[in-house]
Amino acid sequence: MATTTIITPLQLLFCVCVCLTFCSASSSEATVPVGYGYTISAVNSYPTSISLTANLNLVKASSVFGPDLPYLSLAASFENKDRLRVRITDSNNQRWEIPQQVIPRGSPSHYYPLYFLNSERGFQHSLTLTHPHSDLVFTLHNTTPFGFTVSRKSSNDVLFNTAPDPSNPETFLVFKDQYLQLSSSLPPQRASLYGLGEHTKSSFKLQPNQTLTLWNADIGSDNLDVNLYGSHPFYLDVRSPTFDGRVKAGTSHGVLLLNSNGMDIVYGGDRITYKVIGGVFDLYFFAGSSPELVLEQYTELIGRPASMPYWSFGFHQCRWGYKNVSDLEGVVANYAKQGIPLEVMWTDIDYMDAFKDFTLDPINFPLDKMRSFVDTLHKNGQKYVLILDPGISVNDSYATYVRGLKADAYIKRDGVNYLGEVWPGPVYYPDFLNPRSQAFWGDEIKLFRDMLPFDGLWLDMNELSNFITSPPIENSTLDNPPYKINNREVLGSINYKTVPATSLHYANISEYNVHNLYGLLESKVTNKVLVDITGKRPFILSRSTYVSSGKYAAHWTGDNAATWNDLAYSIPSILNSGIFGIPMVGADICGFGRNTTEELCERWIQLGAFYPFARDHSELNSIRQELYIWDSVASSARKVLGLRYRLLPYFYTLMYEAHTKGTPIARPLFFSFPEDVTTYEINSQFLLGKGVLVSPVLQSEATNVDAYFPKGIWFDLFNVSSSVNAESGKYVTLDAPSDHINVHVGEGNILALQGEAMTTEAARKTAFQLVVVISSSINSYGQVYLDDGEAIDIAGVKDQWTLVRFFGTLNNNSVDVTSKVTNGRFALDQRWIINNVTFLGIPKHQRLNTMDLAGNGSNIVNGTVSMRKAVVMSQFDCSSKFVNVQVSNLSLLIGEEFKLEIEIK
Ligand code: NOJ
Repeated sequence: MATTTIITPLQLLFCVCVCLTFCSASSSEATVPVGYGYTISAVNSYPTSISLTANLNLVKASSVFGPDLPYLSLAASFENKDRLRVRITDSNNQRWEIPQQVIPRGSPSHYYPLYFLNSERGFQHSLTLTHPHSDLVFTLHNTTPFGFTVSRKSSNDVLFNTAPDPSNPETFLVFKDQYLQLSSSLPPQRASLYGLGEHTKSSFKLQPNQTLTLWNADIGSDNLDVNLYGSHPFYLDVRSPTFDGRVKAGTSHGVLLLNSNGMDIVYGGDRITYKVIGGVFDLYFFAGSSPELVLEQYTELIGRPASMPYWSFGFHQCRWGYKNVSDLEGVVANYAKQGIPLEVMWTDIDYMDAFKDFTLDPINFPLDKMRSFVDTLHKNGQKYVLILDPGISVNDSYATYVRGLKADAYIKRDGVNYLGEVWPGPVYYPDFLNPRSQAFWGDEIKLFRDMLPFDGLWLDMNELSNFITSPPIENSTLDNPPYKINNREVLGSINYKTVPATSLHYANISEYNVHNLYGLLESKVTNKVLVDITGKRPFILSRSTYVSSGKYAAHWTGDNAATWNDLAYSIPSILNSGIFGIPMVGADICGFGRNTTEELCERWIQLGAFYPFARDHSELNSIRQELYIWDSVASSARKVLGLRYRLLPYFYTLMYEAHTKGTPIARPLFFSFPEDVTTYEINSQFLLGKGVLVSPVLQSEATNVDAYFPKGIWFDLFNVSSSVNAESGKYVTLDAPSDHINVHVGEGNILALQGEAMTTEAARKTAFQLVVVISSSINSYGQVYLDDGEAIDIAGVKDQWTLVRFFGTLNNNSVDVTSKVTNGRFALDQRWIINNVTFLGIPKHQRLNTMDLAGNGSNIVNGTVSMRKAVVMSQFDCSSKFVNVQVSNLSLLIGEEFKLEIEIK
């Protein structure tokens, strides 16, 4: 340890202040601090080491929320150059932490023998930990109470700073059995935070002065600012620049508190404070420094998002309240009749016999009719997904229930199976931590699928939802912990309408500790079962999620309502899900609760067609809202789903990117434009991938939309001759008549599109079209990933996938696009061709008003192509600043590298 010890006058002053604050605070009962922090008693760090450990001693005891733990251990370690882990736990006893089997991750660093700080060696003012290749620096401050900071080597920007504010005991580290508190200051104005869900928010960027509660609950997502179905104690912090230019705009990092217990996170704008009711502090800092890299680093730890089957990017129709099989058949037929693509038909709990999982209502959804319904769907290239709830009806004549009993599969309380209540009445809940329950659940799914070959599963009510609140066990601090998190906005019970905290899972693990993991565990088990049964990539939609759920399931935003506000809030919600590593996400299109209206439904399908997961779903007793019900909605649906289906290869490639790198499919604008601080505030637009900008109408009766365009030239994907030229970022008022949503592609992007069709299977058989958006400042880029759409191993066996990367260049006298192909065999076997290449945004030549494109000026290099057949057309775009050139009638094999060059004379 090289640092010399100096106690600065500032430190002395600091100690005095602390003492004064404590003395005055403790004189009043009402303001007794919850804790007084800890000091460092010993540290261990070698100059070359990438980890350090410290022993912490309690400064002074406080009995608020229970006794303090006197001795803590802190370990800071670089798990790799981009990930710093800081773990603080009880020195003497092992505490609850998420088991490795649930979220596999590195083990915490070992506690090396310590040498003690003593007066001879002197106390060190601070001790830093670095990694030769990391931009992050960890510093331990030997103050009373102690604090630590995480900062950047490159700019000295402080990312996380737990140095206590002596005037505010809320800022001290507190560690009790059932109350843990840690606080970090944040640079006011410069830190934009995103994440910490799941909540419905009007603003994507977190607004100051709010408490974000994390405790999974069955609360409709039409409720703003309350804890919802999932828990994600992760945030992305995007920094605005410093005046001195040290920190560039958009420099980003991520922070995860890996803890499954209930918590309140108090966000004050200049401070973030975690108040957690159990577990340990296990913090991970992700260095970024771009938002994209943060997501890459975060999902490297928690698990990359699951690959999704190709068909799941088609359009889905669901409703709670379909009456019988002919009702379902009618819906499917109406979609076909109206020429609106329908990929997947869903059934809600209506299909079940008395709401029992793995049964069919013998009158309205009898097996023979359901089978033939599903067979017909399959024959037409369509799919079928059904709902499952975790609660198993307690009923001796119900075979599933009996098998569950035999397997001893259910969650217990007080030595007996815990009795809850959901749709079927009294239920027991499978304990997905228990290997026997996992096997039981798997067997039930298999038995049922042997009967009815569904294509995907919808896991609902897994928060866990319970229609009753059981009384607490007397004197139990689990059912009634000393600190009350703000569950459901009432300073009330964590047991409210869920399985009580005193219930027990496998190995006597309490519900108190694993409550937030139930949806994750169910998704994980179900995913494995479906892989085993089908040998294909599963499609699972889960309402409840936790850190790493994206590895197993897709998510929808739950029970929204058919209101204009809910339409707008769906954007922050889907963007958050992407940040949580669950990129396959959508909101119920046209609204779930309440009656939708024709106008709202039309606007909602216009937006929903660009959700990664696009499903129309409505509540029992609300009016029907299938897309064919109103002519206006039907015609908008044909238009927007037409574009969605053309974009399928793009969506699918984004899924591939999400699966391999963690980057969301639907992204905030700052992912592509981090240097543009205006993008940090945007709630009403989003990007698909890097360069497709969706700017929906979110207000009733609006016929235009104020859309923000980051720097660049943007082309309307419905009408490429219309463009927006944003020399620097700017708001533009765009026409948005009732049948139109604005979707633009930005300069520098290359999109590989296919044709419109009624199913994804049919769309996949059409020829590709390349849209090359030329840029005078950068080379254009795009890629397309191709496989059979359902193999478990994405980019696995070499012959079974192809990746094609496209590069576009604007030269002095020409524009060109070239391709680089990895594993072309697969695409060649499928005989996929590109028949059309459109160059957008070629700057108008100074001397000529038009280009000479007589055909002989064009040059195609590809073994199989004859230029003779190609047709070249050019036109000015509406602004007359650019020329768009379309080369059609090509038959370039996408699996073979080519170069296509257009001379500009
Ligand atoms: C609650 C779900 O969120 C909703 O989508 C579903 O329709 C109902 N449960 C009935 O199953």
